[in-house]
Amino acid sequence: MLNVRAALKNGIAQLREADVASFTLAAELLLLHVLGRNRTWLYAHPEEPIADADAQRYFDLIGRRAAGEPTQHLTSKQEFWGLEFEVTPDVLIPRPETEHVIEVALDRLALREIRAGRPQTTSGEGLQIADIGTGSGCIAIALAKELPAANFLATDISPAALAVAKRNASRHQVADRIDFREANLLVPHSPLATRHSPLSFDLIASNPPYIGRREAPSLPVEVRDHEPHAALFGGEEGYELYADLIAQSAHHLKSGGILVLELGHSSLPAVQPLLDTTNWTSVGVTNDLAGIPRVIAAERL
Ligand SMILES: C[S@@+](CC[C@H](N)C(=O)[O-])C[C@H]1O[C@@H](n2cnc3c(N)ncnc32)[C@H](O)[C@@H]1O
Repeated sequence: MLNVRAALKNGIAQLREADVASFTLAAELLLLHVLGRNRTWLYAHPEEPIADADAQRYFDLIGRRAAGEPTQHLTSKQEFWGLEFEVTPDVLIPRPETEHVIEVALDRLALREIRAGRPQTTSGEGLQIADIGTGSGCIAIALAKELPAANFLATDISPAALAVAKRNASRHQVADRIDFREANLLVPHSPLATRHSPLSFDLIASNPPYIGRREAPSLPVEVRDHEPHAALFGGEEGYELYADLIAQSAHHLKSGGILVLELGHSSLPAVQPLLDTTNWTSVGVTNDLAGIPRVIAAERL
C-alpha cells in the first residue's frame, strides 16, 4: 500500500512535470484535503499507509491540477484575512493582495475616529459600508468580522457569486449584517428596501474586475480558463469600470466618507485623475508587497 511520503513524492513529481506553479504546496494541499488532515500530521506520519480509495482520489486531483484546474477549486477553499472561504468556479479566488484593501479601509476608519476625538478602535457602530463586486464575499465578510457593529451592502452582477458569498457570510456568522444584492455596481436590479434606502455610505470598498481583455492570452491557464471572466476582465484595457465606480461612489458616499479601491498592475495612471478635487480629498496610494500600486483611497468632500 502506498504511504504518505511516496504519495507526496509522486504527486510533486507529476505537478513539477506539468509546470504547475508552487507544485510542492499544491501536492501537499491536495493530499491534506483527501486525508482530512493538517500539515503537522502530514510531516509527522510519512510512513502512514494510504487507503487505495484515497490514493485514487488524490491522483485524480493531481491529474486535474496538472491539467490546469486551480488547487482552490479542487479543495473548494481559500484563506483570506485569516478566515476560510468557500470558493467555487463562480467566484474569484480571493488573493492575498486584496488584504491591503481591508488594511487601508480599517486604517482610514481609525483615522476618522481619531480626528473626531473618539477612541481609535471602532466597533463600526452606526457605520454603513458597501462592497461592490463582492464575489466570494471576502471583503465584506473580513470587514464585518473586524467591525462587529457595522452594517453592509454587498453587490455583485453575478447571482451565482452572491449565492457563494451568502454561504460564506453564514459560515462566519455575519449574514445578519450583510445585505447581498444583485446589482450593476451600486444600481440594484430590484429596489433596495429599508436599511440602505436611500443609499448613503460611510465606506465603499471594491476590488473590481481590472484585467484587460487584450492581456487574456498572457494569463496563466488556471486563471483564464477557470475563473469567471466577469470577475477578471474590466474591458479591453482593464480599467474601464473605474469611472462609473468612482462616479457612483461620489454620489452615494456621505461627506467625509471613504472610498477604497483595489488597482490592477497598471491601472493607477487611468484611475488617479478620476479622483478630482471637486469631489475628493486625501487621495492616497498603497503599494503591495511586490511594490505595485495596489490600493487607492480617497475621502469624499
Ligand atoms: C475581481 S472580482 C472581486 C471579488 C472579491 N471582491 C474579491 O476581492 O476577491 C470582481 C467581482 O465583481 C463582479 N462584477 C463585475 N462587474 C460588475 C458590475 N458591473 N457590477 C457589480 N459587480 C460586478 C464580478 O462578478 C466579481 O465577483
